[in-house]
Amino acid sequence: MADSKTIGILTSGGDCAGLNAVIRAVAHRAIEGYGWRVLGIHQGTSGLMQRPMDYEELSLKIFTGNILRLGGTILGTINKGDPFAYPMPDGSLMDRSGEIIEGYRQLGLDALIVVGGDGSLDIARRIAQQGGLNLIGIPKTIDNDVGITENSIGFGTAVDVATEALDKLHPTAASHSRVMLLEVMGRDAGHIALAAGISGGADVILMPEIPYTMEGVARKIESIREGGRNFALVVVAEAVKNEVGETVSVTDSEGRKRHGGIGYHLGARISDMTGAETRVTVLGHIQRGGTPSPRDRLFASAFGVRAVDLIAEGKFDRMVAWTSRHVIDVPLEDAISANQVVDPNGTLANTARGLGIYIGE
Ligand code: F6P
Repeated sequence: MADSKTIGILTSGGDCAGLNAVIRAVAHRAIEGYGWRVLGIHQGTSGLMQRPMDYEELSLKIFTGNILRLGGTILGTINKGDPFAYPMPDGSLMDRSGEIIEGYRQLGLDALIVVGGDGSLDIARRIAQQGGLNLIGIPKTIDNDVGITENSIGFGTAVDVATEALDKLHPTAASHSRVMLLEVMGRDAGHIALAAGISGGADVILMPEIPYTMEGVARKIESIREGGRNFALVVVAEAVKNEVGETVSVTDSEGRKRHGGIGYHLGARISDMTGAETRVTVLGHIQRGGTPSPRDRLFASAFGVRAVDLIAEGKFDRMVAWTSRHVIDVPLEDAISANQVVDPNGTLANTARGLGIYIGE
């Protein structure tokens, strides 16, 4: 058996399906495989910032139930409060990264696994560099925009949810002779829109990566009508801009601007230009919740096991990634700096064009 170690795991950034599966995989490999202690840090890095610290020792007992199948994260997460510019009650911003480093040391951690998207992994890496912490990253995000890896945990489930939404919109669109527009998440990447749009039989897919015109959208809908079909399905990624290049956003309860609302704008424009009765569905956080798909559970399990093995091998500042049917590990810095959006000339964009889907000009 390898030397006894204590490792930490935290989930950071927006939640997604499959996070509990990865926590379970890490716990199994570390506790059962190596005889180590595993501390689950609550609420992302903020669990290490709080005093007393907010964490729990993970025992395999908690994983005998439904956790593999459960959406969300049993550890909690946050996607605000940059530790390098942490908003204080008096309105000032404070660098609290040192408190996280101190927390890591107080818990006696030999390594920390951070399950996050590129934003969270970047912050975790800066903290680890500053404090000399042993860090391993695991990619998760429904947006699937983390560099190098073909898949991030949560993406597949989000695509399943969005595809199922199209499956449900299809019959009601046909019954009422309507254009049904579905707005999906993805931040600045159109991966969910493209994958779900192809899988769900969309007629139009708009993504932030590919410019479009309203004339192009209207032409497609009119040609569908001319071909004798009385309805259409349109998928729009949340970060698509309006025709004049303006970002459409909503202000959340904390006063922050978030993507959202472009669907309503485009729905009204489609209706104006084609005369088609149009309805808009904004799918929202439904894409992040629910039971993880089997594929997400597989990625989560493979990533979790490999992350612990990397610690056993003494390899740090790495991120696990999925490529060509394998789990590999890559320098964390390379993954963070290689943010992946939709390739306008990639296989899926060309597949959509080949199917006659309007994806822009
Ligand atoms: O990054 C994941 C994501 O779900 C994006 O697709 C979306 O734009 C954003 O998070 C929503 O964030 P929040 O949960 O803060 O509303």
